[in-house]
Amino acid sequence: MIEESYNKIKTWYDTYVSEFSSDNNEIQINIDLIKDHNSRVIENIKELGFSINLEESDLLILQTAALLHDIGRFDQLMKHASYADNEGSNHIQIGLDVIDEQKVLAELEESEKILIGTCVKLHDISVLPKIEDEHALGLIQLLRDADRIDVLRIVSEYYTHKKIYPNRHLDMELKETPGVSKKISKAVMNENVAGRDDVENVNDLKLSQMSWVFDMKNKRSFKIISENGYIKAIFETLPKNDVVIDMYRNMKIFMENQL
Ligand SMILES: [Fe+2]
Ligand SMILES: [Fe+2]
Repeated sequence: MIEESYNKIKTWYDTYVSEFSSDNNEIQINIDLIKDHNSRVIENIKELGFSINLEESDLLILQTAALLHDIGRFDQLMKHASYADNEGSNHIQIGLDVIDEQKVLAELEESEKILIGTCVKLHDISVLPKIEDEHALGLIQLLRDADRIDVLRIVSEYYTHKKIYPNRHLDMELKETPGVSKKISKAVMNENVAGRDDVENVNDLKLSQMSWVFDMKNKRSFKIISENGYIKAIFETLPKNDVVIDMYRNMKIFMENQL
């Protein structure tokens, strides 16, 4: 892929997102949040890509995937006023449809279209399916790291300041009930990513997001997360009981071992 192709897709993206605005302040805040998120995922891609000397063409493929990975969020927010993915509204499917209908990748080679489409499709899946193509797998994992690093940045800031700036969309409309689901703590103690379906309250949500560290694949990702203190910041907003402290310790030790 060449830079000119990326720039054309970026021009399409800028026009597409400029059409989304809402009189509803709550929705507008989240539209802006997704725009900023997409830009920062691109920055993360560059940082991770440079750290492993990724080839220019692969970097451009990933920048394109980063630009488009959450393109479905805009339509989802406008139509459903929610980030909740379900049968009637899934940001990945909406995004893939937009990319297809608007022929966003029309000028690219078939192999590049497939790679970008696969990255978008799999960026948010809890557990990756088996992928034989190691090159494709590496790119998908880079996008997943880059995306999750920025989500951790967003939610760590959000949980810290949510009393002043509540955003029910970032709470995924979950309740602030006490305790942690047993399945979530079991997953974390086994160094696994916690399953989305096991999330029952905001504590579970926070811990499931923290558990992404077990699925990060790039050394640089751990450095960024540690240096910015995202996991620690989320931990500070959780109830300090033995279960939570043990889970945090497990994640902390795991991360230290990756540095
Ligand atoms: Fe996403
Ligand atoms: Fe994202």
